[in-house]
Amino acid sequence: MKRKKKIISVVGARPNFMKLAPIELELQKHKNLFTHLIVHTGQHYDYRLSSIFFRDLNLPQPHIFLGAGSGTHAEQTAKIMTEFENVVLKEKPDLVIVFGDINSTIACALVCSKIHYNSGTLPLAHVEAGLRSFDRTMPEEINRIVTDSLSEILFITEPVGVKNLLAEGIDKKKMYLVGDTMIDSLIYYRSKFESSKILNKLGLNKQNYLISTIHRPVNVDNKNNFNKIISILNSTAKTAQNYNPDTKIVLPIHPRTLKMAEKFSLLKKLKGIKNLITVEPLGYTDFIKLLMDSILVITDSGGIQEEATFLKIPCLTLRNTFERQDTINLGTNSLCGLDERIVINKLTEIYKGKYKKGKIPQLMDGKASRRIVNVLKNAL
Ligand code: UD1
Repeated sequence: MKRKKKIISVVGARPNFMKLAPIELELQKHKNLFTHLIVHTGQHYDYRLSSIFFRDLNLPQPHIFLGAGSGTHAEQTAKIMTEFENVVLKEKPDLVIVFGDINSTIACALVCSKIHYNSGTLPLAHVEAGLRSFDRTMPEEINRIVTDSLSEILFITEPVGVKNLLAEGIDKKKMYLVGDTMIDSLIYYRSKFESSKILNKLGLNKQNYLISTIHRPVNVDNKNNFNKIISILNSTAKTAQNYNPDTKIVLPIHPRTLKMAEKFSLLKKLKGIKNLITVEPLGYTDFIKLLMDSILVITDSGGIQEEATFLKIPCLTLRNTFERQDTINLGTNSLCGLDERIVINKLTEIYKGKYKKGKIPQLMDGKASRRIVNVLKNAL
């Protein structure tokens, strides 16, 4: 009988969990072939950024928890590397899967690339490979470039990823254009979202509110930019209330955003925006339910641009660069930078029914994880 192959999936922060969940489900269908261990680095440790997602996504508790926590980039990356090296030396996996572009991703990729097995280094698969913003001031961009260059198997979410990787001289044989496992989660858990009571809890009605999420260092770690965002939210609230005076803006506040708002003494100004409801970060079920029933979302998150495209909710992205091309060329996403005028123009288009309706990209079909596990079956 063939030996079962051991796969370790590494997750660390909020956006990783919904990318992992459908792969875990798919691997469970092939228990005879694979043993799957989940390692949580502990990059995110708050209940609202971590455990709540395991609950909402019915994920098993992580088999191994590294407890890395926060720190500077070097501290956080180094701590994860040290802990993860012990894990792979002990567990001797046949393959490690890393997700997205966070510090946990690059840290574990570096560890794998320096562990030597008889036939070479420990094989690494990267889920969400090939995305590039071409902005090297973003920590995520460095994490993506390094992780992709170290991966044996590249699972790509959208066609531009293939182009980006080819331009970096990466071998086409390593690339698999499989689609987006985050959207697999959205499709798989669809019935669960209806059970959420979040609208009631926040006193909202369908289509009488907008959502906003802001946490990128470039936006919140810089006082000038943070001020511009407050001004954008303020004008947005006023413009929206011209169309419907009851319109609310819901802002789940990320810990980084809260910390910086306090540091810059901007919290009062932020909370002073009329009809703004600030809440703690939301779990998966509540957040998606809120997104589904909203008028639009204003964000700097990567994942939300994809989720909004799939749900056909208009998405105004407060960034100057983008990596998820399909969400802009096909989907409901528009890049606005921190330009208030652009945001208000788009908002007006949305209210007048003139905003683009968006098409769902072909690979957002709920089958990415199945494709991934099929590749793994052949590769291992
Ligand atoms: C990280 C990712 C980012 C991702 C985001 C999702 C990197 C470089 N960035 O950014 O790509 O979009 O997660 O949320 O990996 N903190 C808490 N509780 C926690 C975790 C963090 O209070 O559970 C606070 C800490 O004070 C920390 C700050 O938030 O200093 C930032 O956390 P960190 O993990 O460094 O990066 P994020 O901004 O969350």
